[in-house]
Amino acid sequence: MPSTVAGILQNEPLRNHTTIKIGGPARYFSRPSSLEELKSALAFARDRGLSIYVISGGSDIVFPDRGYDGLVIRLDGIRGVERADEDVIMAYAGESIPSLAILAEQWGLSGFEYLFGVPGRIGGAIAKNAGAYGLEIKDILQEVELVTWEGDVVRMSPREIAIRYRESDVLKYGVVYRAWFRLRKDSPESIRQRREDFSKKRMRTQPYGVATAGCMFKNPPGHSAGKLLDMVGMKGERRGDVMISRKHANFFINLGEGKSEDVIYLVELARKRVFEEFGVKLEEEVIILR
Ligand code: EPU
Repeated sequence: MPSTVAGILQNEPLRNHTTIKIGGPARYFSRPSSLEELKSALAFARDRGLSIYVISGGSDIVFPDRGYDGLVIRLDGIRGVERADEDVIMAYAGESIPSLAILAEQWGLSGFEYLFGVPGRIGGAIAKNAGAYGLEIKDILQEVELVTWEGDVVRMSPREIAIRYRESDVLKYGVVYRAWFRLRKDSPESIRQRREDFSKKRMRTQPYGVATAGCMFKNPPGHSAGKLLDMVGMKGERRGDVMISRKHANFFINLGEGKSEDVIYLVELARKRVFEEFGVKLEEEVIILR
């Protein structure tokens, strides 16, 4: 049963905090809503020698069914957006990408409309360099402010966090607290038009309104993972309550009672089939804690 110690929840079910709705209890769970609360959650873990896992929207992670034996910090309470300069927006780690996209659009600042349908929040989007329709977070990220594992606040450039295709080194240093994005001025009307076009395309090609963690595998250089998975017949493959989407083969859907072991089974099956057929090794994009 969930309970609280020093403002930190105990035994909080992680399936309630991930978009794929999978994951057993976190031994400790914190949802800070300020810098001070974030620092004290980090100190709580340091004092007890606990391992820490950080999520923001929980949209790119599969936790084990047995849960997480440490502290999970969810950043979605640290929110807010400010216009820092004519063409610069500052956003806190827990801000959602769709709401940031709408705000930027109203301010006539282009960039986030490409990412409108990405369900995550800023912290995770930076850590995993979220991208869609030819734009990645790294293209607009100017600077990021982190709270280090030791509790210090530092600013780093995209180069310093080594941001790259669906990866970065953020977690080597600490937790994203807020970030600055340099956007391009454009008319709200043309930004809206692009947002709607990308949205329609996404709805046509990707599942929505269901429990998924986004694309399961990275695109190998020169290939689309979804296309390869489709070609080896993975669409509709099912194990327990986890099924590979019939619309886009790189999306794994939790139909209700899906387990992480079902995801892992299908991941390995998919990887094996694609390797045997095409000699291509698929690498996971979603973080699967085993
Ligand atoms: N395709 C198939 N069958 C499928 C899926 C795709 O034949 O089941 C084909 C499509 O017809 C198309 C090609 O594969 O010709 C590429 O598909 P799509 O345009 O859907 O893009 P993608 O490469 O599968 C990438 C990103 C998505 C992002 C879209 C749109 C990765 C792993 N995926 O998908 O990002 O939304 O482009 O820009 O980089 C994510 O990161 O979680 C994610 C979903």
